[in-house]
Amino acid sequence: MKTMGKDIFALVDKYNKALPRYTSYPTAPQFSSSFSGEDYRKWLSEVGNQEGLSLYFHIPYCEKLCWFCGCHTKITTRYQPIQSYLEQLITEIKLVTENLPRKMSVAHIHFGGGSPNILQKKDFAYLMSSIKKSFSFSEAIEIAVEIDPRTTSLEFIQSMAQSGVNRVSMGVQDFSSKVQEAINRVQPYDLTKNVIDMLRQNGIDRINVDLMYGLPHQTVESIVESVDLAMRLEPNRVTLFGYAHVPWMKKHQRLIPDSSLPGPHFRWELSTAASQRLAHHGYQPLGIDHFVQTDDDMYLALKEKRLHRNFQGYTTDTAPTLLGFGSSAIGQLPQGYAQNTANWKEYQAAIESGTLPVAKGIAVVKDDIVRREVINQLMCYLEVDIPTICRKFAVAPEYFSYELSLLDEMIHDGIITLKEGRVIISPEMRSFVRAVCSKFDGYLTVKKNRHAQLI
Ligand SMILES: C[S@@+](CC[C@H](N)C(=O)[O-])C[C@H]1O[C@@H](n2cnc3c(N)ncnc32)[C@H](O)[C@@H]1O
Repeated sequence: MKTMGKDIFALVDKYNKALPRYTSYPTAPQFSSSFSGEDYRKWLSEVGNQEGLSLYFHIPYCEKLCWFCGCHTKITTRYQPIQSYLEQLITEIKLVTENLPRKMSVAHIHFGGGSPNILQKKDFAYLMSSIKKSFSFSEAIEIAVEIDPRTTSLEFIQSMAQSGVNRVSMGVQDFSSKVQEAINRVQPYDLTKNVIDMLRQNGIDRINVDLMYGLPHQTVESIVESVDLAMRLEPNRVTLFGYAHVPWMKKHQRLIPDSSLPGPHFRWELSTAASQRLAHHGYQPLGIDHFVQTDDDMYLALKEKRLHRNFQGYTTDTAPTLLGFGSSAIGQLPQGYAQNTANWKEYQAAIESGTLPVAKGIAVVKDDIVRREVINQLMCYLEVDIPTICRKFAVAPEYFSYELSLLDEMIHDGIITLKEGRVIISPEMRSFVRAVCSKFDGYLTVKKNRHAQLI
């Protein structure tokens, strides 16, 4: 298959290596277990006066297991573990805030999971009121919640609306019943539509929908049909994730046999068909996996180059400090990254003994900050002007000479152009962005990590 006169499948074969998704730089495999709660405590005490703050809360529970799931979550039919976790989360808020220099103002809050809608209505309100007591909320605060439409009730939606939630993202993945059965996530179109209608009726009108390609039984026709159905719901943003099959890390993914999965060429065809269909419906591609309506603030942020990347993916949030709460949550501070333990027992034990449940982290050095800027710009805008970056960070103009020399093959392959230090990835080649970023990743050449495939 030819794209821009190039044999695209040959390029897929050549560049389809396991690479990070660059939701951070340095990436999570570089975090060190020698980083402790004490280190994090010090960072918290240094959080600046004028700086904005964002919060992430991880709710690692779901009612039903999706076989494709790559997230940090646990299935439970009992509410008691969730209730105890909630108490621990609220204690963690106290442990963190007593180390901050003052009551801080918050502009963005994100509840992720798992499925935060697993919380009972009263408990979600309790969590929100605990957050409100510890932080002041900026006027234009965005409060976003990830929900599973199959298990979201009208009562929970009303509770979110009353607590000020104004954005919801939900998994759909694919509307074909055959695909849904193969991934153990049966979610009829009418069910999804009903939840979106209820959200809008309750004033929550910023809606994100997650779709996936690379699932069993998907065909070009079926994925286009799924996109068409998703479009009928008129979401503000769509994410199109490539299924990351990592059964060595997520044992339940073995329930999706390797033999049922499309190979890299067909994954590319599925991704292209879905992307083109989203564009046909007027959604603008953004970065590696987002599609947004042109009146969405994320599109404006793209145009005005105010886009950022964090552990939730692309964001319009500009705060330099993101505090992560809950097991496995990752915080990003000007000094570096800190990750809570992903082990439930360790998380609980740390909280009960009054210690911050931090398991790993990494302090960033200037080289990391400069490379992160290059990688973020490529991931967000598909281009970067290296001389401008060198000037901005006051490094020598030759700082990236070696990395730029590594791009020759990609120039020859038509993936990028390079002119006077300006690297531009052609829009048709956006699937290869991470491969370009990897050339600027100072850690990759030293140590090999296992990541999901590129396409
Ligand atoms: C953190 S999950 C939360 C979804 C929400 N709890 C629900 O059930 O709808 C967010 C999204 O991550 C994506 N995701 C989960 N596992 C994945 C995997 N293995 N590969 C790619 N994307 C995945 C799915 O699209 C999912 O909707």
